[in-house]
Amino acid sequence: MSTPSSSLPTAAALPSDSWKAFNGPRLRGPLSKLLCLDDFQQLARKRLPRSIYGYVAGAAETNASLRDNLNAFEEWGFVPRVLCKVARRTQHVSLFGREYASPFGIAPMGLMALSAFQGDLVLARAASRAGIPFVLSGTSLIPMEQVMRAAPGSWFQAYLPGDESRIDALLERVQRTGCDTLVVTVDLPVAGNRENNIRAGFSTPLRPGLRLAWDGLTHPRWVLGTLARTLWQGMPHFENSFAERGAPVISRNVDRDFSQRDHFDWSHIARIRQRWAGNLVVKGILGDRDATLAREHHVDGIIVSNHGGRQLDGAVSALRMLPEIVTAARGMPVMLDGGVRRGSDVLKALALGARMVFVGRPFNFAAAVAGEPGVAHAIDLLRAEVDRNLAMLGVTKPGALGPEHLMNLKGLAFRSAT
Ligand code: FNR
Repeated sequence: MSTPSSSLPTAAALPSDSWKAFNGPRLRGPLSKLLCLDDFQQLARKRLPRSIYGYVAGAAETNASLRDNLNAFEEWGFVPRVLCKVARRTQHVSLFGREYASPFGIAPMGLMALSAFQGDLVLARAASRAGIPFVLSGTSLIPMEQVMRAAPGSWFQAYLPGDESRIDALLERVQRTGCDTLVVTVDLPVAGNRENNIRAGFSTPLRPGLRLAWDGLTHPRWVLGTLARTLWQGMPHFENSFAERGAPVISRNVDRDFSQRDHFDWSHIARIRQRWAGNLVVKGILGDRDATLAREHHVDGIIVSNHGGRQLDGAVSALRMLPEIVTAARGMPVMLDGGVRRGSDVLKALALGARMVFVGRPFNFAAAVAGEPGVAHAIDLLRAEVDRNLAMLGVTKPGALGPEHLMNLKGLAFRSAT
């Protein structure tokens, strides 16, 4: 049921990939010291107040799923081909009738505007300029109308309650913005147990108090560059959770409305499918039975995800489930997120059948460290890694990758190098 719109960028409008990575993007200044996505995290840790850094970096309970998301990629090794004439290579991919300049995008992340001034706009603009998908979170603080105007082609993600009138009202609002891809996140029937948020002093809304004040005092750069600039324009609210405005982001006594998410089920997906003419993506699938159900409900694609380990701690990593989900999907586009930090991770997921991968935390940290130029730099770094690795694997395009380029290393014993 994809509805490619005439306003979508054409391949000609996308950034060219003729630059070809050799040593990666050439830069001067402080950004030039950031050489890979993980480098942003260390700087962001210093820049962000402890509570906000903890919210972004953390996961649920013991962080088992967060760790496994990273480990799962290491269990695959590459089997490259050589002498393949790889001079003419591209990393462009098509999805839902649109051409994207790279096979990765920016995952939906709530409260981005606490990490960076107008954080959702920062990510949306950087993604749009780079020709990659950006998914605006339903838990964002900037009205979706503003983001869609600034970066047409952005996707919108919703957490929905099992209340049909509220679902319908939100769908109508999203439709009015011209957004053509709706992502419904389904792994949050209740909020995960984020003990680390409590330990770090984070809550939504944020509760003013001595701890928050101290957090601010010890991070003056964030107070001036993000908080003060934001508050100058008025107290931000949860703008996009429903058709109407939600709670303020800082409040002593107002609570956010999480009601009825645990009433949401496949019958609601069926109803959304009837009413939403654009692309419908379900995010948060981890098993082949649910992938089959998604296909039977005529969704256009799924994102295999354990929510970056932030929901059910111990939930298996998306990469481990990818092959059997791709089989169950029978051609329906399958995307993935969780633990993607390197071009090599992107390519491993593609070789196992993903059509696109999404990256969360590193782009959040990049926005916190250096705003839009920071995110643009992070995209360039990942893009350069993808390009370089494609060449070294002996392939010229993402579609040429397959399981034959990988070997599963699990259980294999290696002799340590001397
Ligand atoms: C998220 N994630 C998320 N997912 C979603 O569907 N809606 C949301 O509002 C949010 N909010 C959110 C905030 C923050 C700070 C993070 C880090 C993550 C999950 C996100 O979309 C994605 O699934 C994971 O972040 C992917 O894992 P990595 O790339 O962060 O390891």
